[in-house]
Amino acid sequence: MCGIVGYVGNNKAQDFLISGLKRLEYRGYDSAGIVTLDKKGKATLLREKGKVSGLESKVSQNARDDQIGIGHTRWATHGEPSERNAHPHQAGDIYLVHNGIIENYKELKDQIKDHQFQSDTDSEVLAALINSFYQGGKHPLSNAVVQALKLVRGTYGIAVISVKNPGEIVVARSGSPLVIGVCQDETLIASDASALVGHTKKAIYLNDGEVATIAKDSISIKTLDSQPVSNKVETIQTDLSAIQKGGYDHFLLKEVMEQPQSLTETLRGRINVKDCTVHLGGPNLSDSELRKIKHIIIVGCGTAYYAGMTAAYYIEKFTPEITIEPVIASEYRYRNAYIPKDSVALIVSQSGETADTLACLREIKKQGIKTIGIVNSIGSTIAREVDGGTYIHVGPEISVASTKAYTSQSIAMIMFGLTIAQAKGVKSNTLAPYIKEIAALPQEIEGLLQSIPDTVKNIAKKYAKKYDHAIYLGRDTAYPTALEGALKLKEISYTDANAYPTGELKHGPIALVDDNAFEFFLLPENDLYDKSLSGLEEVLARGGHAIVVTDKSDFNHPVEQIITVQTGLKLLTPLLLNVVSQLFAYNFAVAKGLPVDQPRNLAKSVTVE
Ligand code: G6P
Repeated sequence: MCGIVGYVGNNKAQDFLISGLKRLEYRGYDSAGIVTLDKKGKATLLREKGKVSGLESKVSQNARDDQIGIGHTRWATHGEPSERNAHPHQAGDIYLVHNGIIENYKELKDQIKDHQFQSDTDSEVLAALINSFYQGGKHPLSNAVVQALKLVRGTYGIAVISVKNPGEIVVARSGSPLVIGVCQDETLIASDASALVGHTKKAIYLNDGEVATIAKDSISIKTLDSQPVSNKVETIQTDLSAIQKGGYDHFLLKEVMEQPQSLTETLRGRINVKDCTVHLGGPNLSDSELRKIKHIIIVGCGTAYYAGMTAAYYIEKFTPEITIEPVIASEYRYRNAYIPKDSVALIVSQSGETADTLACLREIKKQGIKTIGIVNSIGSTIAREVDGGTYIHVGPEISVASTKAYTSQSIAMIMFGLTIAQAKGVKSNTLAPYIKEIAALPQEIEGLLQSIPDTVKNIAKKYAKKYDHAIYLGRDTAYPTALEGALKLKEISYTDANAYPTGELKHGPIALVDDNAFEFFLLPENDLYDKSLSGLEEVLARGGHAIVVTDKSDFNHPVEQIITVQTGLKLLTPLLLNVVSQLFAYNFAVAKGLPVDQPRNLAKSVTVE
């Protein structure tokens, strides 16, 4: 949420700032800005409402050779998206970019008398506060930053420069990520390592409560209490092709299509089909610890939460004496929930930075419960703070709406459930069918992606023109998939879409059936198939407009559309049906001419509460 970049070196700062902001645009895209300083400290501040491309045109008309600068792409929290509210914010001698929320900004604002506020943001208050401690350069900038941050309540990732010292950038973090890119004769900063790819492979991840002073050839990191720290230089694994569209029109489509490979990466070295066993090293739990687990809490937001729900439905099928509670992080963090001691918590997050999920992790750890991360972003805050974890290894997910991460998160958690079941001595003939299907899933998705996209596209195009509402329906393991399908449709096509358990239709949702809505039935041929069919019949009897996605080859009911999925799977079919939902939502949004990868009002990594 919001992107930060910074540059100090011998090259044109504007070039890196713009290219970095473009990479980070998925974090927020309602306005963007950069400021650079020349050698004498003369500032060039350029800001623009809207996407980075707008700012880029402005920069090309105001090109500067300045070799230091900071930039920001914004997801508005305080104040409407506008040039005035765009970062960087100036106060006296300093310029600041900020991710996060300063919760006590009103109190602080009332105390600041020597600054004329130009924006409605909390960030400008922080800029003014730092400037008041800076006193025109009487104190080192880093000291002023520390003094100001000690008064702040909330979350921040900041970068600050001063016209009085055009050779250094001061950065600090608490709750919002910041990475320093280490290069020869230049230093880069970004809120996300993807902005650094192609420039350097060496990165230092700042921890909460740390402040770094950066010049082109030096990096000095201290805690807010002035204790020097020496952070590890880590290697950025991502390569350029992983963050490019690779010939696809949209990242979302690329990410849907690469699921056979991304899921293969999730499974690599973790599944043995011959012995029908699963091995996850990362959680770091002994068999005796696994045997003791009686409760699993799964914490996530959005798609990560639905992946948790999906896994929960599966795990309880094959693991005895276990209760599983998937919870929405933004709710759970304020609940007074009792967590039994024989619990483990799975903390699910693609980005590893989601503020609500992170807050739950910290709360759960305080209660002495073991936490296991199911994370994609290597080195992210959640990945670093959990007691153990399983990276899903799907590579960068750039489209704001999550796709490949859902599939891999679900499977990684099901595998975690299998390791518990193995340790508890569940018979191989119970677990083997799941393990075999997990191993087969990448190929099954591959087959589906070769056969189905055109059919789905044609139907989606038609329905995008006709309907304003969608009702997604599924039962049992297909219910979380229905929720995820509806989320995809609403996120990227702005179409009102809700999901219900099919059996719940008669308790309310059936009242919604009319000519403005269509029903998207996920109908795997499983034990509840016949019962689900009754729900479909009830909808058809009331003039519903049903699309049925099923693996039943002889499905023969008078519905408007049938999407038949051919598969050898029986247990994991809902995950395959979900790929159909992903393609459906994608084509639906494309047919409406919408910006699929950057839907309005959303951001990928939600680092504010
Ligand atoms: C945002 C995104 C969703 C994502 C959710 C959780 O709301 O728009 O697509 O599922 O955050 O993100 P995480 O990075 O924690 O998985």
